[in-house]
Amino acid sequence: MILVTGGAGFIGSNFVLDWISTGLGPVVNVDKLTYAGNRENLAAADGNPDHVFVQADICDQDRMSALMAEYRPSRILHFAAESHVDRSISGPGEFIRTNIDGTFSLLQAALGYWRGLEGKAQDDFRFLHVSTDEVYGSLGPDDPAFSETTPYAPNSPYSASKAASDHLVRAYHHTYGLPTLTTNCSNNYGPFQFPEKLIPLMILNALDGKALPVYGDGQNVRDWLYVGDHCSGIRRVLEAGRVGETYNIGGKNELKNLDVVHTICRLLDEMRPRASGSYAGQIEFVRDRPGHDRRYAIDPRKIESELGWTPAETFETGFRKTVAWFLENPAWVEHVRSGEYRKWIDHNYGSRG
Ligand code: NAD
Ligand code: TYD
Repeated sequence: MILVTGGAGFIGSNFVLDWISTGLGPVVNVDKLTYAGNRENLAAADGNPDHVFVQADICDQDRMSALMAEYRPSRILHFAAESHVDRSISGPGEFIRTNIDGTFSLLQAALGYWRGLEGKAQDDFRFLHVSTDEVYGSLGPDDPAFSETTPYAPNSPYSASKAASDHLVRAYHHTYGLPTLTTNCSNNYGPFQFPEKLIPLMILNALDGKALPVYGDGQNVRDWLYVGDHCSGIRRVLEAGRVGETYNIGGKNELKNLDVVHTICRLLDEMRPRASGSYAGQIEFVRDRPGHDRRYAIDPRKIESELGWTPAETFETGFRKTVAWFLENPAWVEHVRSGEYRKWIDHNYGSRG
């Protein structure tokens, strides 16, 4: 049995579905179901005895301890977080609560549980913390990519809260010996991504005939990784990563935002053509994000050389799959665009102009 937090979100649900569909064993999936959590992401697991869903808040330490005592996980995979930079700018409080306090509660519960294990069960236990490359800050155009030894320099409330959680995980290993692993990954994309993030937002706005809002000059660079490759990287770290270590996961796919949006338009022009003209005609430059990090890039040499992991998808194949998935799942899209989603869109884009 493994315990996954945040398994109804974008990456967590992809991870859980991959795990149970390949028969790797049972999963207890603990998620608060915030606006970003969606039971529909897990529809393929309905009726599967290897999937147990529990709605709970990771900040509730007693509940976390009780769940660990009941399900006796051999591994804990911690995905749960507030994850959107723009939301962290307009409302940082939930980021501090879930990402810092919540990780602390989960670590406390895990430490108590782990200390109660014996022999091989204690030796084999792992706590894997899923984090982001944003903790390393922003790169200049010619700077080397982020490695595991790059100093932390988070710039947004989101990345600062994730950095704090990474430090807590490190301290629980160093001080108490809790067998932890940390992964820092670059920007993900793929099925089930909530359409507040760049790629799904652009796909859906394009199909709706709405503006494609590019922040600032569109020259900010992100290093894109298909979500299935992130999940395979996490599985590999879980299987063979050295306890107490950090592994950066990235696909060596640096792209400027404007090029990402043009790629989406090109694929949509081919797969769902407009009546006339290209979707690129809908691109609009809007007011920039405050403190917008210019460039992220991951140096994945450690996970590649130590653990033999490489991504399966190129940007072109991963993008094509992603655009196709959003075209093929209109019901999921409709349900996700709830009142709460519309409120966010009005709040974030209403004043950008
Ligand atoms: P997401 O926002 O799609 O999902 C987060 C999930 O966590 C949701 O299901 C939500 O309901 C749940 N959650 C939030 N607060 C909770 C709480 N207090 N208790 C229990 N559950 C709670 O996020 P995502 O994009 O799937 O990211 C997952 C993890 O990966 C995060 O830790 C994020 O920092 C990290 N990460 C994401 C990316 C990316 O590009 N999306 C890249 C690198 C790292
Ligand atoms: P996002 O998906 O929010 O991820 P992150 O901020 O964690 O990297 O944004 C990716 C990039 O796209 C980032 O540079 C901000 C930019 N962006 C836009 O230009 N327009 C948008 O509407 C959004 C949501 C993001």
